[in-house]
Amino acid sequence: MTIVEPTIESEVRSYCRTFPTTFTSARGSELFDHTGRRYLDFLAGCSALNYGHNDPDMADALVAHLTAGGITHGLDLRTEAKDRFLDRIDRLILRPRGLDYRVQFTGPTGTNAVEAAIKLARKVTGRSTVVAFTNGFHGVTLGALAATGNSHHRGASGPLPLSGVTRAFYDGYLGPDVDTAAVLEAVLDDPSSGFDPPAAFLVEVVQGEGGLNPASAGWLRRIADLARRVGALLIVDDIQAGCGRTGPFFSFEGTGVVPDLVTLSKSISGFGLPMALVLLRPELDQWRPGEHNGTFRGNNLAFVTAAVALEKFWSDDRLTLDVDRRARLVRSVLEPLAGLVPGWRVKGRGLMAGLDVGTTEVAAAVTAGCFQRGLVIETAGPRDQVVKVLAPLTTPDVQLAEGMSIVAEVVHRTAAGPLVGTGCGEVAA
Ligand SMILES: Cc1ncc(COP(=O)(O)O)c(C=O)c1O
Repeated sequence: MTIVEPTIESEVRSYCRTFPTTFTSARGSELFDHTGRRYLDFLAGCSALNYGHNDPDMADALVAHLTAGGITHGLDLRTEAKDRFLDRIDRLILRPRGLDYRVQFTGPTGTNAVEAAIKLARKVTGRSTVVAFTNGFHGVTLGALAATGNSHHRGASGPLPLSGVTRAFYDGYLGPDVDTAAVLEAVLDDPSSGFDPPAAFLVEVVQGEGGLNPASAGWLRRIADLARRVGALLIVDDIQAGCGRTGPFFSFEGTGVVPDLVTLSKSISGFGLPMALVLLRPELDQWRPGEHNGTFRGNNLAFVTAAVALEKFWSDDRLTLDVDRRARLVRSVLEPLAGLVPGWRVKGRGLMAGLDVGTTEVAAAVTAGCFQRGLVIETAGPRDQVVKVLAPLTTPDVQLAEGMSIVAEVVHRTAAGPLVGTGCGEVAA
């Protein structure tokens, strides 16, 4: 393998350190490097490629748009491509689910959508504090970073205080016997607890970067009820868990919870193109024209592919059924692996699944071993101790099985090796 070390790219680069080669092309769930070597991609742009690389129908629509001289950059001008996307999200996603939302396009990355959502919640409620949860990840611009738990990312803000956020315990954080929604309820009901009434609760239904922690429907409903009771808005950050990653289009479907605001990015363009948006209840649309703007809110190439993605994958429930089936396949491999070492656990929901192997070192050894065998796979969690399977939702079963057999082989070897191998199956201290 050729290790390509760039000389002028900033030290801040990260994924290219874990996967040290130069990639040249991609198709579906496969990546190819400059030597022609094939890799399976179970990182999938960190869930920005739920439909795989270079979907042929999206590619055709994109090429046709470009050759016809279609609009590429449109600020927030009305364009044919934007109209088509708005029609498709309304007709194929919102209306069939009984959801009445307006769509706000923000700057093109997830953190831009989070910034817009919390800013709007503060503007509408006239309150400043946002309740965010332990292990939550919402982006790295200052507002979203304040809501993000991870100290590695928070530390980069230097001496600037990350303010305006109160941290609460996520579902299960204090163990299975503590209802953390009840804890939050208690402090918000107590006028001398020191907790100011918040503008919003910002929550992931399944925490991605935080280690694939799913919230139960009951917990989520209690948070939603509490938000309503204390006059706060419920923001579901569906940037990683949305667009089918957990099965349904939105991760909160089936929970009985209808958020006030929803953030979407990553796979909303369908093709890995930058695009982000906030869905907001119409009565919350209290922005004045241009009050929250951004040059790149009108990526028309993303609108083109996003419309195709919605038509192709969300006109019926086939993809959701495929995700359920593929998720069972992934679990059927992970569960016996979790049994190899006391303390190892299967995490996640749907095709946002993983194996908690206890330590950073063991997880890093697994991802490195997988890469050597032709599988791109990453980690998540507070200590990067969860090996995270984020295969494209469209991965053919045969490739999913191939990738999972690499995971299984490498995990078996690692479990028997010096990092874990105490000889008696215990995780090394
Ligand atoms: C749940 C969630 N919110 C927000 C973000 C930030 O998105 P971006 O990296 O596009 O700014 C991420 C990124 O991983 C995420 O997982």
